[in-house]
Amino acid sequence: MSKIKQNGYARYDLMKDLNYEGIQHDYQELLENFSSLPEDDYAPNLNRYRRYSRAIILPETEDIYWLPTITKNDVEYSAYFQGKFNPEHPGAYREFHSIEKNIRNNKLLNEIIKANYKETFWNEEDKILPIHVGVHFVKLYVEKDVDKAISSPDCLHQDGEPFTFAHLIERTNVTGGTNAIAIPEAAGNKPEDIDNKDLIEVFEITQPLESYGVYDPDVSHYVSPVEKGNDNHIGVRSVILIDYQQTVVADVDE
Ligand SMILES: [Fe+2]
Repeated sequence: MSKIKQNGYARYDLMKDLNYEGIQHDYQELLENFSSLPEDDYAPNLNRYRRYSRAIILPETEDIYWLPTITKNDVEYSAYFQGKFNPEHPGAYREFHSIEKNIRNNKLLNEIIKANYKETFWNEEDKILPIHVGVHFVKLYVEKDVDKAISSPDCLHQDGEPFTFAHLIERTNVTGGTNAIAIPEAAGNKPEDIDNKDLIEVFEITQPLESYGVYDPDVSHYVSPVEKGNDNHIGVRSVILIDYQQTVVADVDE
């Protein structure tokens, strides 16, 4: 039974839920991959690093297929279209550095995709065609006390994809990165600017593979900017974000 269905969002501990022999090894491979993420071309100098790849999952078999990438100057890219839901990039078409092939094959990553998929729910007709899966590796990295790494958009929002999940990979020496869940009507505002009764939960994910997921139509969500903590070394907050969307069939009568 989907934990998300009831409240429009849910929190998970996937290290515990997925526990299998070799999970730590696979987690280490993902963690190490985050140490060399390229800077987000669309947010230069904002202390944000990312990779992105797309897959499809077949509802019948739950088999995952990674979609082909675009190669430019020997660098692999995956295209991304967010539609109208990100107010900072309305209708944006973007190309991100792809997740490398060996990481796309990481068993833990594939198990996470499957586990999230099992939490999603769809109309029967949506399950005739593949479900589209967008996988973002996002690292916020703060070196100096004055640095601030901001997630986009910097307000409560809805993503446009029916389901989005966030999985913590690493959180070290940072303040902020606090998650908020609110009613959909709160979108566009900061959590501190809305009526307390419209705020559903405020929390932080701090442990490896501590996770949450949202059913987008039912809630808005937010993560606050990240700043360096008090320790005398860099601060980092790394997450894997995974969104799920049905295949949209064009209406030929329009
Ligand atoms: Fe979001």
